[in-house]
Amino acid sequence: SIDLSTLTRQTGLTALDYGFVNTASTQSEITYIDGEQGILRYRGFPIEQLAQHSTYLEVAWLLLYGSLPTADELGEFDERIRRHTLLHEDLKRFFSALPHTAHPMSVLSSAVSALSTFYEDSSDPHDLHDIELTMIRLLAKLPVIAAYAHKKSIGQAFLYPDNSLSFVDNFLRLNFGNMAEPYVIDPVLSKALDRLLILHEDHEQNASTSTVRLVGSTGANLYASISAGIQALSGPLHGGANEAVLQMLAQIRDSGEGVAKFVERVKRKEDGVKLMGFGHRVYKNYDPRARLVKESADEVLAGLGVNDQLLDLAKELEQIALEDDYFKERRLYPNVDFYTGVIYKAMGFPMRMFTVLFAIGRLPGWMAHWREMNLDPQTKIGRPQQLYVGEPERRYPGA
Ligand code: ACO
Repeated sequence: SIDLSTLTRQTGLTALDYGFVNTASTQSEITYIDGEQGILRYRGFPIEQLAQHSTYLEVAWLLLYGSLPTADELGEFDERIRRHTLLHEDLKRFFSALPHTAHPMSVLSSAVSALSTFYEDSSDPHDLHDIELTMIRLLAKLPVIAAYAHKKSIGQAFLYPDNSLSFVDNFLRLNFGNMAEPYVIDPVLSKALDRLLILHEDHEQNASTSTVRLVGSTGANLYASISAGIQALSGPLHGGANEAVLQMLAQIRDSGEGVAKFVERVKRKEDGVKLMGFGHRVYKNYDPRARLVKESADEVLAGLGVNDQLLDLAKELEQIALEDDYFKERRLYPNVDFYTGVIYKAMGFPMRMFTVLFAIGRLPGWMAHWREMNLDPQTKIGRPQQLYVGEPERRYPGA
């Protein structure tokens, strides 16, 4: 690899790289991806092993601090997060000002941005104590905000967090519990959601993480950076794809068009239609996360006693695409978003909550990158170059 900033200084040359296909913006110790072989490791640990043996909070610690926590460290981390789950009552009223039809991703991003107004005196991006406290607050409050966005969209009352419950169980109760009866934890649901969250925790310099780093590189605080990251994640070419996949599958089912005909339309690029949940900038092989999610899908649906025709459609679609030259030549495989929606739907989440679940999963990764960047003495404000191709100098009429 070459250091382009030195090259630019020495030669005056600028590399044009649409979509940053070949430009590294930083060095990082957090996540390793080999897109050719389909390998993903967090801090050196293979994703398959973490998904099988770890928990969301343990992986969050690993991403943030570089090693697995001891039992005491994890216990204390968990305890601190439980103590910060409550939202300020004024922030709860913030939800009333938004329409119930608002997309939960917009609500999530707005509420995280609003959090910075409550903690102005403790969100100095250069103060280590403030950074640690803000990370704990975000881990504790993001799931609560997400659940309130859900409750708001279905017109139900918000519950207070129950801090005797684990991170995931608390989140499930806030989404699916009600005031009238105690919430019964389903261990299948709980385990499956924890595993899905682990799979989403980091993915190096993807669009939303790069956004978090870019905003953070200006000296903006962590709330502002995460709020921007949530918006970047919402797009259908990024995290929003998990919602788009379910819409696509439902549309294929309802139209009666059939999978093969739909694939033909994709290949003709008719109206720009794409196979959502397929393709990746980095993976030119099966996305290892997609493999794990696919394995989970049958297990979870069976465990929850759900039979969904959309899962069969997804499998048929994958089979046809993987055998087709169009997809083979372009090396397009299912990505993490292809099968997650079917599982989230079986769990009872509405489609518009799918990308919110991705955001909760990705939060530790965003924060680990923001922290790494902030502690790196080489960090500079992010500021891409451009090649100007507009008008040369010309005279304003009458000037
Ligand atoms: N369906 C059909 N064709 C596709 C797809 C797809 N999902 N993805 C890429 N292609 C085609 C492109 O049309 C292009 O074909 P061409 O050479 O004939 O022009 C070729 O494959 C290369 O695609 P690019 O767009 O250059 O690939 P890029 O790396 O820029 O895009 C992306 C990656 C955005 C993920 C793309 O594959 C896509 O849009 N996929 C669908 C949306 C999606 O699932 N996004 C989630 C990604 S994972 C994540 O963010 C968590």
